[in-house]
Amino acid sequence: DCRSTHVFVVMGASGDLAKKKIYPTLWWLYRDNLLPSSTFFLGYARSSIEIKDFLNQKCRQYMKIKPDEEQRFQEFLEKNFYLTGSYDKSESFVQLDLKIVEIAKLGKCENVEDANRIFYLALPPSVYTSVTKLLSQNSKARKPHFTRVIVEKPFGKDLKSSNELSAHLSTLFTEEEIYRIDHYLGKEMVQNLIVLRFANQIFKRIWNRDSIECVMITFKEPFGTQGRGGYFDEFGIIRDVMQNHLLQILSLIAMDSPVSKNAEEIRNEKVKVLRTIPELKMSDVIIGQYVGNPNGQGDEKMGYLDDPTVPAGSTTPTFCCAVLKIKNERWDGVPFILKSGKALNERKAEIRIQFKEVPGDIFDNTCARNELVIRVQPDEAVYMKISTKKPGMNFDPVETELDLTYKHRYEGEYMPDAYERLILDVFLGSQINFVRTDELAEAWRIFTPLLHQLEQQKPKPIPYVYGSRGVPDADELCTRVGKYNYSNTYVWKDSSKS
Ligand code: BG6
Repeated sequence: DCRSTHVFVVMGASGDLAKKKIYPTLWWLYRDNLLPSSTFFLGYARSSIEIKDFLNQKCRQYMKIKPDEEQRFQEFLEKNFYLTGSYDKSESFVQLDLKIVEIAKLGKCENVEDANRIFYLALPPSVYTSVTKLLSQNSKARKPHFTRVIVEKPFGKDLKSSNELSAHLSTLFTEEEIYRIDHYLGKEMVQNLIVLRFANQIFKRIWNRDSIECVMITFKEPFGTQGRGGYFDEFGIIRDVMQNHLLQILSLIAMDSPVSKNAEEIRNEKVKVLRTIPELKMSDVIIGQYVGNPNGQGDEKMGYLDDPTVPAGSTTPTFCCAVLKIKNERWDGVPFILKSGKALNERKAEIRIQFKEVPGDIFDNTCARNELVIRVQPDEAVYMKISTKKPGMNFDPVETELDLTYKHRYEGEYMPDAYERLILDVFLGSQINFVRTDELAEAWRIFTPLLHQLEQQKPKPIPYVYGSRGVPDADELCTRVGKYNYSNTYVWKDSSKS
């Protein structure tokens, strides 16, 4: 298939993201033979580094190289190049162009004049504008080769700054050339949402306000800012995970059926449903900030404000619970709860869809609601809580589950990392799992007034203890506004332990 060589350029190659995520991902894709046959990797950054040493010494610990893969890894190293250059001078980007042309000649493809070019911008936001401008002026591929640019968050800080950045990008690149990464869209269970919803008649029929009482989407992490306090404090949990990761999940759950599985059709439906969500108000949210646990171990003793990189007295939320409404025919009156927090009791991302109580109940209110749970991580699973007859000499209902736990049903199956799927999608030119400009603007519209209010009025977040379930007031909001029912009757039984 060697008509053209592909050159994957890591802009910001010496940085943390490149070291921990991008290069390991490129290695896995290369190791598994998933990339086009003639692909080279070119690192670019200000510092002068020896790329093979960098990969061997700095990245290796993240690459999970097995002993019998050493030979393959050596081949990978041979495909890597590096160029030192600035982020704000045209000459550097002319050099970059020449370097890619030089690499294209190594490719032994039909067309050696140039290569398809993918630029991954693993860069701080401060250099985004100049890098994208200089790239587009000096380093784009010559036709018929393609140029694709992968952009990482933050995509602005609010609706205005995000729109400015989008407007800037759109003068330099077409929408088809821009790949905005939200790595949650690369997770197995997030990608599964479209299949679960639109390939199952049983779900299609009940996926609306007639059957569903409420939806909860949760993100929990058991650690705090871990020295990233400086970055985090500027953004807070709402921008860090809610406006992007959780809202993306929400739009996949709530959207109408797309005309086809074509990227534009899917993204059209996601945008359509986002447009029906009113802006969040203060009364729709509870915010919290973690404090140290005096009885905890190590980091657990440290509250958010004890992180030396966090400004004293900061009111940035590290926990937030918000109830969103969707004003359309399918969802009117069904609350969508988004809950997220750092320094909580566990690592978990999941979706809970609670169904309405059984009408005309003949079991004297002893049946709990049906609930469909999609566990994104850890341990991917889909399970449905149902009532069944308690086995034996009785006629009583009891709660149980229909269970699809991946580690049992798909034992030994290789589950690629989110970045692996997404970077491969860029090679393939598939934009299904990337955020379109209008989609991003809608996401910011929903959160911006709240974010501005929080920044201007600086209400004090409710403290919660490191390692706890978060702010108890959130449970109250979920029940009162979110119509969520915490039945404490259900006990999950892990069948692998029986
Ligand atoms: C990132 C956030 O986007 O997602 C981090 O900036 C967060 O704060 C991370 O820890 C969570 O990703 P994952 O894949 O570990 O759930």
